Order: sequence, then structure tokens, then C-alpha cells
Amino acid sequence: MLVAPPAHIDPDPAFRIDVLAGLAARPRAIPARWLYDRKGSALFEAITDLPEYYPTRVETALLAAHCDAVAALVGRGRAVVEFGSGSSAKTPHLLAAVDPSAYVPIDISGDFLRASAAALAADFPKLPIQPIEADFMHPIDPPEGIARLPKLGFFPGSTIGNMVPRTAVNLLRAMVETLGEGAMLLIGIDRIKSTDVLIPAYDDAAGVTARFNLNLLTRINRELGGDMPIDAFRHRAIWNDADARIEMHLAATRDIAFTVDGEGFAMTAGETIHTENSHKYGPRDARLLLRAGAWTPIAEWTDAEDRFALILAEARPAGTAP
Ligand code: AVJ
Repeated sequence: MLVAPPAHIDPDPAFRIDVLAGLAARPRAIPARWLYDRKGSALFEAITDLPEYYPTRVETALLAAHCDAVAALVGRGRAVVEFGSGSSAKTPHLLAAVDPSAYVPIDISGDFLRASAAALAADFPKLPIQPIEADFMHPIDPPEGIARLPKLGFFPGSTIGNMVPRTAVNLLRAMVETLGEGAMLLIGIDRIKSTDVLIPAYDDAAGVTARFNLNLLTRINRELGGDMPIDAFRHRAIWNDADARIEMHLAATRDIAFTVDGEGFAMTAGETIHTENSHKYGPRDARLLLRAGAWTPIAEWTDAEDRFALILAEARPAGTAP
């Protein structure tokens, strides 16, 4: 016997709250983390292979080229703590170079965490791996045995760019709490550059980024029992110069009305839902962000076109200088 699946299966209460509040707010905005369901995560992986999406390629090449220089500065034998490890695709370069005493990937998605930890364990059979399923926005107590080891934080992917500066600073300070004084941090930060490069990176010719953004509406309809007319929305990527960020929006192409979880909403043609920020930082901006977050920059590496930066910083005690 065929049984119709329930209209919505186990909606995450936080998703419901964020979507209903975000659709009621002006400007309308839904936090970017909800883009990453199974389908969204797969689409993001596809984005990283797009010819227009330079960040992943450039950062991976920087890591491959400079991990020995990183190792010379951080020394060997630190515990490597990766924030938001996701698929951990860039991590092997770093681990091979710094010969860590332990690897501690932190991710909010337990599935991702277990899969990537298992993959790394196969490549580094002697390395103690201690995954932590947690929200790294808050300080985390390192597991027993890791607490006293010197640490190297790893935060690649320019994920810091997803946060507005005040949130980014809060996160950087939480990382100092998690890692302790004397820790070091290797962070990837995307640069400000021409919109001729930036816009196509977030609005690619094949339409993968558009599908990634629009998938949020499919998720809302499925998990929250919505009837949002997906064909009445278009993906938009814009450069907000005042705030130095790419913004992704979902723009209504005509006047529409719809319901989500029984609540009614209306949008007029041209109105948008803001779905993601990707902040970009010039060289001094990036270093100032780190200092504001209690990290002292000590070295950085960029590609020949200065598209992306890998920055090494240290958690030093507050200075006594004026
Ligand atoms: C995963 C947040 C770094 O901002 O470049 C890519 C996400 N969004 N294309 C980024 C993303 C659209 C990505 N980060």
C-alpha cells in the first residue's frame, strides 16, 4: 500500500522561527545557514568547481604552496582545531605540513563531521582525531588530553565573510577562549576586488548559484508546509559597496501572495528576500578585523592577483603599549 508522505517531516523549530520572522521583517532576510540542507550542501560543493568561483581554487593552491612556510612559523606538534570543518577538503595539506599532535574538527552538522573525520583517519592513521559536534560561535571546552596542548586554529573558506563584522569579531574572540593564549590561527579571507570578478562568482553562467539560492524556497515549502511560488523568484547577486559585501537575494518577479506554516505573506514585484552576505576585506581591513578580534597578524600569503589571503595570527596577551 502506498502511503502519502507527511506534508512536512520534523521541521527544525529554529528554521520555522527564522523563516517566519525573516519574511515578516523589513528588509526581509533569512539567515544564510538555512541554505545548507542536503541539497544546498551538494550545490555548494558544485559551486566550488565552477570556473567563475575562484575562492576555493585559490585558497587550496595557497595552502599547497605555503603550508611549509606555515609550519616553519607555527612549529610542529600543535593540536589543529578546525572550525566548521564541513568536508575538510583543504585540511590534508595543512596536517601533512604541521605534523599535529591531534586534530579536532568542529562542525554543527554531525553527519558531515563523521564522514570527513573518517576520510582523514584513513589518510592519517596515527593521528588522534577528536570531532566535536557543536556551534563554534560560542567558546568550546577542548576535550580531555587536548586542553594542555599548544593549538593551531584553522578557519578556511572565507566563512568569516558570511558574518557581519560585529559577529565576526565575537567569533574571533570566542576562538581565543576556545584555543587559549599562545594559540595561533590560520584563516582564509576573500579580498575586495573588481565586480567584474565578484559578480560572476556569485551569479555563474550555468546557474548553479541561482539553484543554490532558490533551493531555500524548496526547503521552506517542503519542511514548513509552504506554497511559495518558486517560479516567481529570481536569484540576484549584488555588490554592496558601502558594506564591502556581495549580497544574495531572492527577488519577486511579480506580485505574489503565499503562506508558510499557515501564515500569509505578500510581496510586490521587485521586492527581495536577503539570503546571504559574503563580506570582502582589503589587506588592512583583514588585519584590523583580526586585531579587533584579539588576534595579532604575523604573516600572510596571497596569490599573484591578490584575490584571496591566508593569514596567520597569534593570540597574544593584551599589550601594555599606549
Ligand atoms: C561558504 C560562505 C564562503 O560566501 O563565498 C558561495 C558561500 N554563496 N556562493 C561564499 C557561497 C554563494 C561561500 N561561503
